[in-house]
Amino acid sequence: MLQFSTAGESHGPALIALLSGLPAGLPVDFEFVQRELLRRQLGFGRGARQRIERDTAEFLGGVYHGKTIGAPVAVRIENRDWSNWQMALPVEATPANDAQKRPLTAPRPGHADLAGALKFNFHDARFVLERASARETAARVAAGALAKLLLREFGVEVLSHVVQIGAARLGREGLSRATEWSAIQSVCDNLESPLRCIEPNTEQAMKAEIEQALRAGNSVGGVFEVVAHHVPPGLGSHAQWNEKLDGMLAQAIMSIQSTKAVEIGSGFNGASQHGSAVQDEIQYDRERRRFTRSSNRAGGVEGGISNGEDVVVCGYMKPISTLRTPLESADLGSKEAVRAAYERSDVCVVPAGGIIGESMVALVLAGAFLVKFGGDSLAETRRNFEGYQRQLDQF
Ligand SMILES: Cc1cc2nc3c(=O)[nH]c(=O)nc-3n(C[C@H](O)[C@H](O)[C@H](O)COP(=O)(O)O)c2cc1C
Repeated sequence: MLQFSTAGESHGPALIALLSGLPAGLPVDFEFVQRELLRRQLGFGRGARQRIERDTAEFLGGVYHGKTIGAPVAVRIENRDWSNWQMALPVEATPANDAQKRPLTAPRPGHADLAGALKFNFHDARFVLERASARETAARVAAGALAKLLLREFGVEVLSHVVQIGAARLGREGLSRATEWSAIQSVCDNLESPLRCIEPNTEQAMKAEIEQALRAGNSVGGVFEVVAHHVPPGLGSHAQWNEKLDGMLAQAIMSIQSTKAVEIGSGFNGASQHGSAVQDEIQYDRERRRFTRSSNRAGGVEGGISNGEDVVVCGYMKPISTLRTPLESADLGSKEAVRAAYERSDVCVVPAGGIIGESMVALVLAGAFLVKFGGDSLAETRRNFEGYQRQLDQF
């Protein structure tokens, strides 16, 4: 079973990703992991923090001579900003540093501040926001990069693009699935494309939405779409609620900070259509010896099982809650009405959300892949995968 967890706070010394269950013998492309971390840091609308950090993955265990050894993989990502915070957030109790604490007592509506302070009995939400912060997602992306490397061995590729920022939305009329996929590949390869929108005019409109929010001291949300290409049919299961691939994907995407809705395929639109306009009719390609569909409204999952089409998942991100013109709040100590706290902040995080979404989808797919094909070594996983391909050929 592939399992992963993270540790570390936004302004603490470092973040940690722990990933166990990868088969032994998986080559680790360190440059690829590094590039994934960089991709998360890019985007239009990010705050000053990204100029401080140079996220670098330091492998602490589970990888030797460039390959996994079947042991848990531990990755450390240093927080360069820690040097500005170690007096405020010392690991050891140092009363001398009390004066340097940076308490947050005016909870921000929409952040974890108030709910977390009540839960953990803090009258200062600092420790809550430190862990709730999406800085944690750097560790997810490191783990996700390893999941992508496993999937890549079997031809599966996971990418994302931005389909909406504020009111600016990508129009998709007349775009074939193949054209879209190659457009997504080219925006993902181009690190200069700040929003990873596949249509240049829409990208300009998206930028304008972000600039307008920035000028107004506000924030803006949007939608990213993750597409997993060449996913074999048969991942996940219809048999139990917690084995359903769509359920696992939804949970993984929903867990991304500020994501408030998840859509698989054309799920939202489908709710207002008739059945004949929503299901994807089935054909058989005799040359490839595979069943195919001319449409993919299901987003590659039927009955909780991947059906061989691209897996398509959207994350709907709300505008982030730290605002330069803050909303009303109540002080955690005095209970008096105050304006919510402001800390250096992003304005729009949807492009980064897409990269984190890729990581979460890759982790879910890699997990479901290992449940189906197993294998303690990559060679064993490959044998099982190839046996299944033969079964599909002869079906
Ligand atoms: C990549 C990324 C960066 C974020 N940056 C900020 C930020 O700078 N300021 C902020 O208030 N929220 C930011 N958020 C959102 C908060 O982390 C999130 O709203 C908060 O943890 C509460 O969780 P919830 O919105 O999922 O309920 C960011 C989210 C993501 C995915």
